[in-house]
Amino acid sequence: MNAISKITPARGADERAVPREAVLTSATDPRGVITFAGTDFREVAEYTAEQLLNAPHKIVRHADMPKGVFHLLWDTIKTGKPICAYVKNRTSSGQYYWVLANVTLTEDGYMSARIHPETEYFEIAKELYAEMLKLEAAGKTPEESANWLLEQLAAKGIPDIETFSVLALDAEFKKRGIVLPSSETAFSLMDEILELVTDMRQLAQDIETGFKRVRGEPVNLRILAGRLEGAGAALGTISQNYDAMAQEMYELLGRLYGNNSGALQDMHVAVSHGRAAQQFSQLLKEAVTREQDHLVEGNPAGLLTAQQARLDNICAQRIREIANAGKPIPDICRSLRRRINGLDVVKLLCKVESGRMRDVDSGLDGIIERLQAFHDNTDRGLAELSSKASQIQQKMSAF
Ligand SMILES: Cc1cc2nc3c(=O)[nH]c(=O)nc-3n(C[C@H](O)[C@H](O)[C@H](O)COP(=O)(O)O)c2cc1C
Repeated sequence: MNAISKITPARGADERAVPREAVLTSATDPRGVITFAGTDFREVAEYTAEQLLNAPHKIVRHADMPKGVFHLLWDTIKTGKPICAYVKNRTSSGQYYWVLANVTLTEDGYMSARIHPETEYFEIAKELYAEMLKLEAAGKTPEESANWLLEQLAAKGIPDIETFSVLALDAEFKKRGIVLPSSETAFSLMDEILELVTDMRQLAQDIETGFKRVRGEPVNLRILAGRLEGAGAALGTISQNYDAMAQEMYELLGRLYGNNSGALQDMHVAVSHGRAAQQFSQLLKEAVTREQDHLVEGNPAGLLTAQQARLDNICAQRIREIANAGKPIPDICRSLRRRINGLDVVKLLCKVESGRMRDVDSGLDGIIERLQAFHDNTDRGLAELSSKASQIQQKMSAF
């Protein structure tokens, strides 16, 4: 059967359709000279293997593609990192087709696997590319244009190109809806782990917000101490203790959830990259099956199998990273919960002072109430965090 017989409708008059099941593969040497061109790629691009092999990859370049995108692509892959980018390519007869291309490092160059794009990330990319073309026409260099693209992504809450890559691949992969039976269990496990990590990040963020909210309380206590003069001396000391202990907790919390750092961030990166490797590996597996019927002389399909094995190794490494990053979490949660108990003592002292000042409207009761709520919420959040961390460790053992 022809690999692209089940063509999905093309969107424009000159547009050549990329079927949902197609995986357009190619490999290059380190300079971008084509060393392998898969069946689906050749069919959509309307080239023979002979025309593509040893040609520079820009043979399929479309004039509508901003230079900044390729600048970013090379900048990324040269450091060994994978990248996903939406690319418009020109076919041999002058038509065009859009793909989400996923490019990774191989033993001796790079490999790309491309699929039909249709998610909201594709729409974002097309809008940004249109602006980049204008900027480039107005004299911006490819580097400036690439930086502009990164700034726009950051403004949309996507901090870097790696994050964009894993988000776009995941969205397109899921929309494509093809999961090989052999990948099913591992995919669901990874999705479940990612969901747990996402929940844990939310819990940690809530705890951090709570911290920020009660940060002012020691100051309130000190103000109160000043107002009460001699009688407030105890409150002054209590406030200092509270401040010091809360600061310690804040630092511990940072090990769990910091600004782009901490165990939960490391876990999140490892899971999302592990999942991207899983997905890319499956695409290559599909491509390998397709090549078995369409192999052309001089076109070594073994490259696909080798790269698939490489991605499986990357995935296994990411899984180890998830486990390592998750290990200290229960200990950190335990230490934090111990300190919450310490803060409870401070809160009790406040209560004693409040009792002694029964006749004065000290405002202490309000402070105590807020501290109580914060302690309860934080303790509950930490218990939940711990429990989710153990659920992850359990799931890890299923890999
Ligand atoms: C593995 C791999 C796959 C690539 N695939 C494409 C592609 O499908 N379309 C494309 O225009 N450029 C692709 N490129 C980038 C080209 O090498 C080239 O940078 C791009 O066409 C822009 O041409 P220029 O650098 O001469 O401006 C690929 C590069 C690599 C390493």
